[in-house]
Amino acid sequence: MKRFFAILCLIPCLFVLFSCDSTSQQASSPQLLLGFSQLGSESSWRLGNTQSIQDAASAHGVSLMLENANQKQENQIDAIRSFIAYRVDVIAFSPIVEEGWDNVLTEAKNANIPVILVDRLIKTANEDLYAGYIGADFMQEGVNAANYLLRKSSDLGAENLNIVEITGTVDSTPMRQRSLGYHSTLADDTSFTVLESVSGDFLRSKGQECMEDLIHKYGSTIDVVYSHNDGMTLGAIQAIEDAGLIPGKDIIIITVDGEQEAIDQLICGKINCVVECTPKLGDLVMEMAKQLIAGNPIEKVIHPTEETFTEYDDLSSLAPRGY
Ligand code: AHR
Repeated sequence: MKRFFAILCLIPCLFVLFSCDSTSQQASSPQLLLGFSQLGSESSWRLGNTQSIQDAASAHGVSLMLENANQKQENQIDAIRSFIAYRVDVIAFSPIVEEGWDNVLTEAKNANIPVILVDRLIKTANEDLYAGYIGADFMQEGVNAANYLLRKSSDLGAENLNIVEITGTVDSTPMRQRSLGYHSTLADDTSFTVLESVSGDFLRSKGQECMEDLIHKYGSTIDVVYSHNDGMTLGAIQAIEDAGLIPGKDIIIITVDGEQEAIDQLICGKINCVVECTPKLGDLVMEMAKQLIAGNPIEKVIHPTEETFTEYDDLSSLAPRGY
């Protein structure tokens, strides 16, 4: 009987001991380690995106290994391989182009490290190579840009508008889908002619060069510039003004991103339409990484909410953009 009581008394003690042990394990348990390969620093959008990832990592208590690939796919592949060798808990990366990831992602899969695609997508026959995607609905952005133009064209009563398009990096998701969404929305309307589509690689300097060449070729017959990011648009505006033309009046300017500088130009009439693409993806990435490590189910695709700002809107109370 004495023995029975002794055991009975021991149970709560053991329970306390176990609880203490598990608490101390939790306190000393290592932070989630996330390896993130950023594709480069080509635009203010990209800098804002990197900042968002860094801020969110510290806010969520996530240890971050950050590598900048300086616009080279091979650097991203090397970074992912180093994350695998380092045995990070989760890998995230913004693929510069869509093709060419299967081998390195198979290596990550074999090492049991889940992968999150951030901002851009990949083309693969095996969708299991990544756990989830967090980024814009680029197709919808193209549709939003085209919808603005349909409204503007009907306001002007225009019979024909000549469009030039300055696209982002060739073979990247935003380049492909922003084009597709835009052209497919305008396809049935015969009042639009696409004079030419050229790539400015998401760079302000290249946007300016592209626009100089386009003005040289087509002169004042250009009615509309559709540019895939604000940086290239700001470069193109410079070229338009240098040629003695008035952006926003002689040429309708449609841009994507929503950087502060572009919003300022919209307010002063040099840009007609800004389609938002938010770089603030950090919190969503950290939340998905935590769910993956906890073994919880996640949504395969997460798009942030995005707006379109145009010359028709009252923008007086628009909050500072932060990028
Ligand atoms: O992938 C998002 C795009 O990449 C942004 O529109 C652009 O500014 C950036 O470089």
